[in-house]
Amino acid sequence: MKRVNITETVLRDANQSLIATRLPFSDFEEVLEKIDQAGYYSIECWGGATFDSCLRYLSEDPWERLRRIKAKVKNTKLQMLLRGQNLLGYKHYPDDVVRKFVEYAVKNGIDIIRIFDALNDFRNIEIAVDEALKHGAHVQGAICYTLSPIHNLESYVKMGKELEAMGVHSICIKDMAGIMSPKEAYDLFKALNEAVKLPLVLHTHSTTGLGPMTYLKAVEAGCSGIDTAISVFSGGTAQPATETLSYALKQFGYETGLNEKVLKEINDFFRPIKERFLEAGVLNPFVMGTETDALTYQIPGGMLSNLIAQLKQQNSLDRLDEVLEETPKVRKELGYPPLVTPMSQMVGVQATSNVLQGERYRNVSKEVRAYLRGEYGKAPGEIEPELIKKVLGDEKPITGRYAENLEPEFEKAKKKLGSLAKSDEDVLSYIAFPQIAEKFLKEREERRASTVSYTIKKL
Ligand code: CO
Repeated sequence: MKRVNITETVLRDANQSLIATRLPFSDFEEVLEKIDQAGYYSIECWGGATFDSCLRYLSEDPWERLRRIKAKVKNTKLQMLLRGQNLLGYKHYPDDVVRKFVEYAVKNGIDIIRIFDALNDFRNIEIAVDEALKHGAHVQGAICYTLSPIHNLESYVKMGKELEAMGVHSICIKDMAGIMSPKEAYDLFKALNEAVKLPLVLHTHSTTGLGPMTYLKAVEAGCSGIDTAISVFSGGTAQPATETLSYALKQFGYETGLNEKVLKEINDFFRPIKERFLEAGVLNPFVMGTETDALTYQIPGGMLSNLIAQLKQQNSLDRLDEVLEETPKVRKELGYPPLVTPMSQMVGVQATSNVLQGERYRNVSKEVRAYLRGEYGKAPGEIEPELIKKVLGDEKPITGRYAENLEPEFEKAKKKLGSLAKSDEDVLSYIAFPQIAEKFLKEREERRASTVSYTIKKL
């Protein structure tokens, strides 16, 4: 029987996509042992926005959260998402910080690290991959999926082979916008399966409604791992439902290893939590529906709603058609970056500005300028030389790996934090999100001080 590995996303991607990563540890602590018994291949529970959200909104130490999950999940692998040299954000960190971060992620309990770069410039993931391999983690190299005239089977196969050569253990195709069709999935996984020996994984979202069909066709073509979310936290901008996929796959003779009875108990556990988030207005029913505009415009749904919001703000919603026509032109001139954060915002803002200003590239954001300088990495295609000249003048873009130019930062940050940092993990939180981590660490100190004085009084 063929095996399909199921990764549960309720603690990370589904939590992030539906309720802006607002699920506190205390909400799901009780169900962790149950999740551990369900038969999942892995549980995605860390990275992405969980780290930021813990510090910023939930007053939780993200490292502590990871350790506490690990203490309850003894059999199932814990998985995280890492943005290569950007770690959990959008700026490039120096190599010493990237290495320390990966080392401590593994030491605190991560078994599988999925590593990607927004431009699929693998120079930006090589340090993280190298360090994760060194610490014995399962390293999953990820390719961002996008549609463009230069992204085709051949280019994806080439990327797959590059990842294989880097020594990763598996390859994930990451369709963050949920735009991959069943046909595209079938062709892509068939081609990859013939070209590389590694296990292949697909990550998609239900946004456009294609998700479950796409998973099924990918599996038929040799994909052996998919990401799903327990049903009450599935669908819409989150993943297709775990129970549904397992049910359908088993009928076709695939083994998922999942126990339906346990899945039902997990789902029942999360139902009142979902209702609470709905009542509080954190979960907007709109994000649970199906949005097909992304298919019409060939741009991710999130990008489309950003464009509309921007135009509304400037009282120019009537120019939407022009902006939608300008968007693919800007993208082409920028060398067809995948439309994922932050590139999707950068392309969208530029297209809007080009239309509203009445002159193309009259205003160029500092992010687009940095992109043209090569600070984000290498564009998948060729950037329009005229555009580089217009924006950068005589300045030459860098061609090497951007992080080569960055000074080591860990020891400096450690010194700066002084006694506020109780561990190297605290220092890493601070480097990743300086202001909010400092605030968090100070509040933690105050909380501890007040508990101590309270205890002394009691004595
Ligand atoms: Co995702």
